[in-house]
Order: sequence, then structure tokens, then C-alpha cells
Amino acid sequence: MNPVACHPASTPAQRGLTPVQRFIESELEALQNGDVRSERQVRSLFNLLPEATASQIAMAERLRVGLLAEGRPLDTIPSLGITIDSQEDGSKSIAYHEVIHPQVPFTRDQLNPTSKDSPLFTGGVEMELLGTVEDARLVSPRVFMLSAWPNKLAAERVLDLIGDQSRLTYHNGLPITWDKNIDGKAWSTNIDTVYFSDWLRSSGALNESVKVSAEVGCGAGGISQTVLANCPNLETHIYTDIDPNAINCARRNLAPLVGKAEVSWCIGKGVTGIVDPGTLDLLVTNPPYIPTPSGDGDKDHYSGTKLIKRLFEDGIRLLNPNNPEAAIYVQMSSVTLPDFSRYRAEHPDVEVTLIGTPVRVPLRISGLLREPEVLDFVRKQGGLEFVDGDPLGYYHDIMAFRLKPKR
Ligand SMILES: C[S@@+](CC[C@H](N)C(=O)[O-])C[C@H]1O[C@@H](n2cnc3c(N)ncnc32)[C@H](O)[C@@H]1O
Repeated sequence: MNPVACHPASTPAQRGLTPVQRFIESELEALQNGDVRSERQVRSLFNLLPEATASQIAMAERLRVGLLAEGRPLDTIPSLGITIDSQEDGSKSIAYHEVIHPQVPFTRDQLNPTSKDSPLFTGGVEMELLGTVEDARLVSPRVFMLSAWPNKLAAERVLDLIGDQSRLTYHNGLPITWDKNIDGKAWSTNIDTVYFSDWLRSSGALNESVKVSAEVGCGAGGISQTVLANCPNLETHIYTDIDPNAINCARRNLAPLVGKAEVSWCIGKGVTGIVDPGTLDLLVTNPPYIPTPSGDGDKDHYSGTKLIKRLFEDGIRLLNPNNPEAAIYVQMSSVTLPDFSRYRAEHPDVEVTLIGTPVRVPLRISGLLREPEVLDFVRKQGGLEFVDGDPLGYYHDIMAFRLKPKR
């Protein structure tokens, strides 16, 4: 859609507004509803803000349109440093550090992302090691650290720093920063991100045929970072998220890699409208994957596992028909499998392949699990294990699949 040529009919909320203000109003409403808005559209909206009403400016601020469109990624001053390293056998170790002297943002010259053995980048950032856990399934292992670490002071310091909610996470040498004060609830590097990133690398997803790629639901940008750093012939990458905070955070984290390809972003829901059909060589997503009781009758196309359902319908159509390797890669969980099996059965034309070996990890989506109705539903559907007496509680298996049209 061309925003400048758009003249929507007025709604009661728009009466008494100038035509430009009406246009701003409808764009802000669309943004708030999660309809896809590209970088170009948000920029043109930002340019019109001097003509906006006070309440429109307030809404634009709430939606962070100003920050996004100004192209001014914010710096963060992380206090906790986390380094996660994946070993050849798939195991991971996680080390916690106190950041003594941060230096962000990073520049592209400071990274060596294309090297498989990318050395941990510490140029300009001084970190003091507090302790290591040889099992990355225990990300933020509060209970574990206090009981198992010999150095209680160090464990308590890590827990204090976790509480600061600003961190710098290196996974295989690539840095992601996240700061709650700046990035709000944007989803940053987490156990799913780490395994998905490794599976993408080991499964051949990031191959030489990938010229045009996209990520849906980028969060802080860890997966897009893996794509940009590892696809040797990448020309264009687009990342999207429903949450403007995530886009802001990802923009900051991806800035050092922007020169590797043409990079742009969209704010909005789902896969429709992000690129023209038939253009993508690679579509990656680590989507919401906890099923909800509402089922298919739900009005929201994206509640529960529906974003995954959309991949079979809208996502497949975006793939480049001239590239036999063009594919979607999606991360999910054992709790998703009942829904996923239905979507598969409804789309026999889609070839589905498991990549990597599923891994049992604690389920940390505690907000959702506090909703007794959802928890009860997920438990009945299967794929969730409650380990009595284990402080980490619920476990599930995370896994990733490749989807491509059957030929
Ligand atoms: C599990 S997080 C993954 C974040 C990041 N890709 C990673 O792996 O660290 C899922 C992300 O998808 C976004 N999201 C949820 N529903 C979405 C939708 N319908 N369309 C686009 N993004 C969505 C969320 O805001 C969140 O950032």
C-alpha cells in the first residue's frame, strides 16, 4: 500500500481532523492493530508527525514511531555479560560475567561473524567471569546456582545482575544487547534462540543459494544476526515483529551487519505483505508455540500456534519457486505437536523435515502457565512433563522443522 495515496473514509474518531491528521490516525491505528507497516511507511508517517494532534503524538510515542523512524538506535549499558558456546556434540556451556567496561554499540569491524570459529569478541568490553554452567539448558538458573556453585558470593552477584535486566549475550561470538528500560518486553536471546540458531547453522539452511531471506518475529535480532552472519551470498534480508520495541532492539543489534546485505524491517503481524510472493529463499521464525484452548474458531489469526499454521498457507507462497532449496525453518516445542500434526495433515503438499535432535529443556513461559485454563489445556494435549520435586518444574522438548513445497 502506498501511504501517501491512501485516503481512508473517516471514522467518528477522525472527525474534525485535517486530511493529513486523518491519514496519521489510520496509520497509527493500523500500527496498533499489528497490520504490517514497512520501514518506508513508518518513515513517511514520522515525517508527517509535525502536523499531528497532541494525542496522535502521544500515541506515536507509545508506539515508539519517533525512535524507529529517526534511525537512532539507542545505546545500552549492560551490566550482565553472558557467553554461550556450542560444542561440536551439540552441548552448550554458559558463563556469567560482570560487565566492567561496556562499549556499545559494536561496529562491523569489531565482529568476525563469517568465521565458523568466530572468536569471542571482547574488544572494548571488559568482563569479569563470575562462574560457568556446563549446561545451557539452565539459562538464568537461579535455584541451581545458589545450591550448586561453590562461590555463593559470585552466585548472588549473578542473581543481582540478572535483576538489573540489562545484558549483553554472546552466542558463538555474536553479541546481542537487551535492556528492559529501553527495549521493554522485547524477547532477547534465550534457550530457544540458541538451539534454533545452531540448528540453522548445522542443517544447511544458511546455504549459498540464499539471496533473499526474512525472519518473522525477530525479537532482539539473534536469529537474523545468525542469518546475516552466515549466508555467504545474501543480498536482501527483512525482519519483522509485531512489537515495535523488538524492532528497535533488533535494529540496534543488527546495525553492525547491515553492510553485509540490504536490510529492512516491518512492524506487524504474520507473514502476509512482508515481501512479494515467490521471492524468498529462506524464511525463519521462532514463533509463539504454546497452544491455546480457543481452537480454530478464534477470531485472532495469530493466537496460540496460528502463526505456525499461517506458514503452511501464506509462508509457503512467499518462497522462490525457482530455488529448489528455498524453505521455511520454524522452531517449536513438543507442546505444539498436536496442532502441528493437524496443520501438516491439512497441507499434504508441504514437505516437513525435522532438523537436529529435539532437546528437553525447562519451559520458561511462566506468564502463560500461570493461566490455569491454558496450563490445563496444554497438559491434556501432551508434550509437557512436570518433574515433581525439580525446582525447574515443567519440561518440554524444543525442536525445529524445515517446510518446503513438495516437488
Ligand atoms: C519466541 S520470540 C522469538 C524472538 C527471536 N526470534 C528469538 O528467537 O530470540 C517470538 C517473537 O515473535 C513476535 N510475534 C508474536 N506473534 C507475532 C505475529 N503474529 N507476527 C509477527 N511477530 C510475532 C513476538 O513479539 C516475539 O518477538
